[in-house]
Amino acid sequence: MHSTFIHLLSSVVIATGLLRVHAATYTQSTSYIGNDFISGDFNFFTAADPTAGRVTYVDQATAAAANLTFATDDVFVLRADDTTVLSASDPGRKSVRLESVLTFGSPSAMVLDIAHMPEGCGTWPALWTYGPNWPSTGEIDIMEGVNNQNNNQGTLHTGPSCTMPATRTQTGTVLNDDCAAADDGNDGCGVEFAANTFGPSFNAAGGGWFGMERTSTFISIWFWPRGSTTVPAGVSEGETEVVTDNWGTPVAYFPNTDCDIASEFEAHNFVINLTFCGDWAGITSVWDLACAASTGVSDCNDYVDANPSAFSNAYFEINSVRIYE
Ligand SMILES: *[C@@H]1O[C@H](CO)[C@@H](O)[C@H](O)[C@H]1NC(C)=O
Ligand SMILES: *[C@@H]1O[C@H](CO)[C@@H](O)[C@H](O)[C@H]1NC(C)=O
Repeated sequence: MHSTFIHLLSSVVIATGLLRVHAATYTQSTSYIGNDFISGDFNFFTAADPTAGRVTYVDQATAAAANLTFATDDVFVLRADDTTVLSASDPGRKSVRLESVLTFGSPSAMVLDIAHMPEGCGTWPALWTYGPNWPSTGEIDIMEGVNNQNNNQGTLHTGPSCTMPATRTQTGTVLNDDCAAADDGNDGCGVEFAANTFGPSFNAAGGGWFGMERTSTFISIWFWPRGSTTVPAGVSEGETEVVTDNWGTPVAYFPNTDCDIASEFEAHNFVINLTFCGDWAGITSVWDLACAASTGVSDCNDYVDANPSAFSNAYFEINSVRIYE
């Protein structure tokens, strides 16, 4: 009887372990809300911008004094300086980049409840995760874009030999299927989301929720707009348990068909960054297409230097970031 019981128990454990790959129930392990973002759970990154942005990342004391970070019990705001005119010799507009002290591996899920994201010509905000020795431990960009675009991009950046199949079960549009950071100028394997998932139109709708799940065999990203009937119950209410099987078809789905997800992605820190221009927003062809006509300025850096008030909407208002493991 005893041994039968043990045997039964271990079959259940094995079955659960197998099921987890496809129908995972995760329990909240960490939540970041309001003051949590400025209470030691995040490091302020103050080195030069690795993506050549027109930015100066400031430390915690400087950010607080200039109100570039602001928190209550319920909400966290992260913004760029919107009052200073810069000269060409200044290193860049003051902004903030935060990196979580904790790391999160596989399997895990993440829900980001975002009320407002930075918008405007020249801005390049991102919510993403990465590990040490980039790119060999992988990068997952959950929310990223530039220059008033209305469509979010979800992207992986990896070491060599990681590509995505052209046809996948996802609602988004493939931009590039080569994830290797060494290829295509580090474009990564991006997937474009529908409209109103980024920038001014996202903000006008009150924002929404981004979801991400990573396992040893796939990475998926979702988006649900504020007020939509499609928001899964556990997500909209910030419950302590989520069932990713109830999240519907992902917008971006990255399977391990031609990419060893388990070895390309190690435990990651969560990052919030807001830079300007640089290797994406500031590329001449990108700037020309999106912003040269509307701003009347032919160079992204010149625009960012001369027009502080253009960045009064360049702020994140974050309701919560929840990690489920
Ligand atoms: C900002 O985030 C993106 C991820 O989307 C990353 O590739 C880039 O290096 C980051 N830039 C800075 C300046 O931290
Ligand atoms: C700091 O920023 C917050 C959020 O935008 C705002 O509500 C508050 O009034 C600001 N405080 C000051 C002193 O400007």
